[in-house]
Amino acid sequence: MKNTVSTFAKAKKDGARLSMLTAYDYTTASLVDAAGVNGILVGDSLGMTMLGLPDTLGVTMDDMVHHTRAVARGAKEALVVADMPFMSYHLSCAQATENAGRLVKEGGAQAVKIEGGAQFTPEIEAITRASIPVMGHLGLTPQSVNAFGGFKVQGKSTAAAQRIVDDARALEAAGAFAVVLECIPAELARIVTDAVGIPTIGIGSGAGCDGQILVYQDMLGMFDDLTPKFARRFAEVGALMKQAFADYDACVKDGSFPAPEHTFAAPADTFDGVK
Ligand code: KIV
Repeated sequence: MKNTVSTFAKAKKDGARLSMLTAYDYTTASLVDAAGVNGILVGDSLGMTMLGLPDTLGVTMDDMVHHTRAVARGAKEALVVADMPFMSYHLSCAQATENAGRLVKEGGAQAVKIEGGAQFTPEIEAITRASIPVMGHLGLTPQSVNAFGGFKVQGKSTAAAQRIVDDARALEAAGAFAVVLECIPAELARIVTDAVGIPTIGIGSGAGCDGQILVYQDMLGMFDDLTPKFARRFAEVGALMKQAFADYDACVKDGSFPAPEHTFAAPADTFDGVK
């Protein structure tokens, strides 16, 4: 059955945990979907994992639409949430609504995600007024990497922790259907989870959240540029891929690939007159 925002609301009510992963293409989305994961985030982390950028700031709306469209084709049951990239919602409610609309109309997303707290409640209200569900994102919001002075754990002082709780309440009041909590202390994530009636989806924020999300390349051991402490490696797919690529390279070069079973034939006299 298709996961929707109602599935997420029901999970919070029932105390059932939600799983999410990122995906950026059709093949990966199909695999994640078939595994029964509740939601797929087309994260702007694609700037780093797919495009080789140093951070997410250079990701464009066109990048997001392109990747979201591919993921939506593969996600039969998972809820597809698309990230709104840096500067796609900061200028006005009209800009935010128009860009959220592109992710739904052109990309096929069922929801969008916005980084930031109470300062974006007007934009969240405007987008939800257009019947587009919004997921919030608090804590280490990567689009603020320059303001934070690096990728650092957030909410480590009493004042900063209170701000995150207040922001989560503001996002809920503005109509957000869920909120990602990235890299905040586990105890604070538990407090936020108890403080709001919408599901919290944690990444690097401990087991007290209502759900979890990871970047798929991190959990498959495919991406070594950045190796966050919180990303458990569920497989070493990167090592497997490297070995398979090396085996292919060797077989092409020693002539053992392609073998007869990988080639096509025609009746014996077909090419007699072909010069
Ligand atoms: O862009 C992304 O992948 C994200 C997740 C890390 C939550 O925002």
